[in-house]
Amino acid sequence: MRTTEGTEFDVVVIGGGPAGYATALYGASAGLSMAVVERDKLGGTCLHRGCIPAKEFLETASVMRTVAGAKEFGVQAEQPTVDFSVSQGRKQKVVDTLFKGLVGLMHGRGITTYAGSGELLPDRRVRVTGVDGTIEISGRHVVLASGSVPRTIPGFGVDGRLVLTSDDVLDLNSTPGSVAIIGGGAIGCEFASMFSDLGSQVTVLEALPTLLTGCDQDVVAVVARSFRKRGITVHTGVQVTGHSPNGSGTTVFFGQGEQVSVDAVVLSVGRRPLTAGLVAEGTGVVIDERGFVVVDHYMRTTVEGVWAAGDVVDTPQLAHVGFAEGIVIIKGILGESVVPVEYSKVPWCIYCHPEVAFVGMSEEQARRAGLNVVVKKDPFGGNSRARIVGETDGLVKVIAEALPDGRAGKILGVHMVGPWVTEQLGQGYLAVNWEATPDEVAQFIQPHPTLSESFGETVQALTGRGLHLG
Ligand code: NAI
Repeated sequence: MRTTEGTEFDVVVIGGGPAGYATALYGASAGLSMAVVERDKLGGTCLHRGCIPAKEFLETASVMRTVAGAKEFGVQAEQPTVDFSVSQGRKQKVVDTLFKGLVGLMHGRGITTYAGSGELLPDRRVRVTGVDGTIEISGRHVVLASGSVPRTIPGFGVDGRLVLTSDDVLDLNSTPGSVAIIGGGAIGCEFASMFSDLGSQVTVLEALPTLLTGCDQDVVAVVARSFRKRGITVHTGVQVTGHSPNGSGTTVFFGQGEQVSVDAVVLSVGRRPLTAGLVAEGTGVVIDERGFVVVDHYMRTTVEGVWAAGDVVDTPQLAHVGFAEGIVIIKGILGESVVPVEYSKVPWCIYCHPEVAFVGMSEEQARRAGLNVVVKKDPFGGNSRARIVGETDGLVKVIAEALPDGRAGKILGVHMVGPWVTEQLGQGYLAVNWEATPDEVAQFIQPHPTLSESFGETVQALTGRGLHLG
């Protein structure tokens, strides 16, 4: 840790996760002097306990599925088994390499990093408490980017053995024989899919009526069907009331007197902002009753010169949203013209099998908003590349505003489920955010044979004249 007292920077960022490090990298490339205060490791939840390790394990699951299905292609392979400690080692190698790259990048851009906990004091001073003691630094601007931690629920004390959060799952050295996953949102579905593919018996317990609340219902139906086919038990609309350890495992109680005995329980019931000790008395920064730092569309807190970004503010808890918010902040600091993040049109990607990717309004949201819409869906079953790779579960669905003559106008939402859709969303994202119409987008050629043709076909069909899709 640097020990010079009173060091002044253009911008001090508290928290070195995606929102914090993106702010620092973008600010440094604009010539600002940047400091980042991080108590753990640069990279934050995304790199060490979230997106990257989770997707790496989902890739392990994908390799298992490929090997298990090899015979269909005439490739002879033994029924695969997984040595999860090897997967754990590979995951760590991926994380460590990316971490080293990030540290090098920060260093290369001349960003000063402080190891310790940062606390905002009045007048944009920041107290850094590390193992070597406490120092004070200050910035013309301070950015709060302290992130979030997994939420827990009463009656489920997290012990890392019987009751796990996503943090614990990503450090396991073996997979549980059976697991109950509480919460069927993004994290719950990713873990359910991963554990099931790796051979665990999985039960998902979700309080709301469907899995993946917020996703288009046609998309949810495909995921639910795939889960069912793979033997994942899903209970929706159930309250979990508690659990009782039984020898090596535990029995989870839910619904109307139902129960399931499992080796482990995973809590994936959302994440809460991490603001404990972040802001000292008297700074004037407002934190709402749920713990989020209150900001406006430009990421400005209630105090001039103090900004916030990432999971600590009440916006979609996605690394790429944190990146975008960091850029908004730096442009604001530089006095440039700023386009705030349009949160209703950010890209969402969920990496369970089958993958889910979407942007913009679902059909239900559009209809609830009173909009007249035209909808087309193209199932991957008709896509030649999907047939070739042997992954035909899924569809592409495009929702457009209906013009007075009934033709399709502005594209409002693009929803995908199926093979590699997280890599295909880009075109849909551009279409929605460009406020393009099917007539405009259908002009563009899709290479053949590709999975992305399904998006092209859907949009083409919305013009009123489809090629393969009516
Ligand atoms: P989430 O908010 O997506 O889902 C939590 C689910 O738990 C909800 O469906 C909720 O109804 C349910 N729930 C809450 N309390 C419950 C209870 N007591 N019993 C049963 N069900 C209960 O949160 P999740 O999945 O934990 O993810 C946290 C955040 O991380 C999300 O906001 C998401 O944005 C982000 N994330 C994004 C990913 C991606 O984009 N691939 C992957 C993982 C996380």
